[in-house]
Amino acid sequence: MSVKSVRNICCIGAGYVGGPTMSVIAAHCPYIEVNVVDINEKRIRDWNSPNLNDLPIFEPGLDKLIAKCRDVNLFFSTNVESCIASADVIFISVNTPIKKKGLGAGFTSDLKWVESSARQIAKFSEGHTIVVEKSTLPVKTAETIKNILDASVEARTDSLDNQQNKTYSIISNPEFLAEGTAITNLENPDRVLIGGEDMQAIELISDIYKNWVAPEKIITTNIWSSELSKLVANAFLAQRISSINSISALCEATGANIQEVSIAVGTDTRIGNEFLNSGPGFGGSCFKKDILNLVYLCRYYGLSEVANYWENVVRINSWQQNRISKLIIKNLFGTLSDKRIAILGFSFKANTNDTRESPSINISKDLLLEDAKLCIYDPKVSKDKIFGEFEEMHGKDSLKVCESAYEACKEADAVILLTDWIEFKNLDWNKIFIDMRKPAWVFDTRILLNKKYLNQLGFKVWTLGSS
Ligand code: UDX
Ligand code: ADP
Repeated sequence: MSVKSVRNICCIGAGYVGGPTMSVIAAHCPYIEVNVVDINEKRIRDWNSPNLNDLPIFEPGLDKLIAKCRDVNLFFSTNVESCIASADVIFISVNTPIKKKGLGAGFTSDLKWVESSARQIAKFSEGHTIVVEKSTLPVKTAETIKNILDASVEARTDSLDNQQNKTYSIISNPEFLAEGTAITNLENPDRVLIGGEDMQAIELISDIYKNWVAPEKIITTNIWSSELSKLVANAFLAQRISSINSISALCEATGANIQEVSIAVGTDTRIGNEFLNSGPGFGGSCFKKDILNLVYLCRYYGLSEVANYWENVVRINSWQQNRISKLIIKNLFGTLSDKRIAILGFSFKANTNDTRESPSINISKDLLLEDAKLCIYDPKVSKDKIFGEFEEMHGKDSLKVCESAYEACKEADAVILLTDWIEFKNLDWNKIFIDMRKPAWVFDTRILLNKKYLNQLGFKVWTLGSS
């Protein structure tokens, strides 16, 4: 049995991947009904909010797509059962965080949400269904999904009263979008990767993308290559960041300048100039998780040298965050007790409200442990989300979430710039200086601000990667 053409898509998971991806598919494929389902009722309510500022995720350009497609051919609901039943294609876009306990804890992804999605598909799907892995997953997850689906089909053919003819094709179609530029990345991808064994299913998924992506950009592989390529692409990107961050420390020690070095190195076309911006370490839901999955996989296959090589990319990332915390403490006379510190930026990068693995979290926690009083401001991250990151910490009275950068910086001893939001560049730094306690420090971990100008205003300035 097979699907002749795709008319109905169900996406399980209305998060940072599912929401934007399905909005772009809906916008380019008006003949397809796209249903995005989630078990989180509040999230679905927010996706359906008439006020587009209330969408659960902030992503430039997303609001326009939602305005165009929502309730036309794009629907957000909690109707998991019926949307699975009517789907020709089901995308699994659920969360896959690192396991907190048990076998592989701290390294491999927790697949419980993937497993529960597969069980729901097994239960409610009808006829032939193409199941697409969209979430970032460990290699060989497709096999897990296939096993769950096959087991349920076998169980059904045994039972006489429930002889439904369910069949499945499993496809891996990893997501390469970066948050903050998700819509642009989806609209104009470098490539679309589709892995699988069933050529007809690969063709049908390709046909969806061909509505707006040039055919030569669509790469087809076997399923394991597709799953592994996603991990490797993220590992390579993260490795570049750890490489440049390691050199930022050397620049500070030697008098070289990391931005000058980045330009000099990146203009070699063999190296390329992207992902060479030194900063407080990479954050986001993917890089650390994907590398740790790669490390786990290598160890599983006895490749300990390969595992150690990649694990060091994550180690350098933690080291970079930690050395920034230490350096702040050292410059503020070795104690933060009763000092007021403004944290500018809490998301893991600009143009997103996502805080997963944000360097701001670790650095803020380090400073709180030194008894600092933190005033945090981020243009898009909500108060609740910021407080939520410190839930298990004592001393939450030392934490204030502010409505503006000016409020956060008022009477502060130091400002730590941690996210590259452009609004921080355009602040009235003279006003901030006047309102701060002296000596007024700025620690610019994103190399966003004009050091010379700030020095002229009277600030003491530490900029990453230069002396
Ligand atoms: C990443 C991958 O880019 C994307 O392809 C994949 O699908 C998901 O993971 P994302 O985590 O959303 O995307 O953002 P990205 O732009 O890659 O940034 C990740 C982190 O690296 C951020 O904390 C960012 O600030 C940091 N970064 C990025 C740097 O420190 N320097 C750089 O030069 C680039
Ligand atoms: P990502 O960045 O990968 O998109 P998110 O955490 O933003 O991750 O989104 C994943 C979404 O998947 C969450 O909103 C979560 O509620 C949803 N989800 C997890 N498991 C299921 C499930 N079995 N059925 C429906 N939705 C699910």
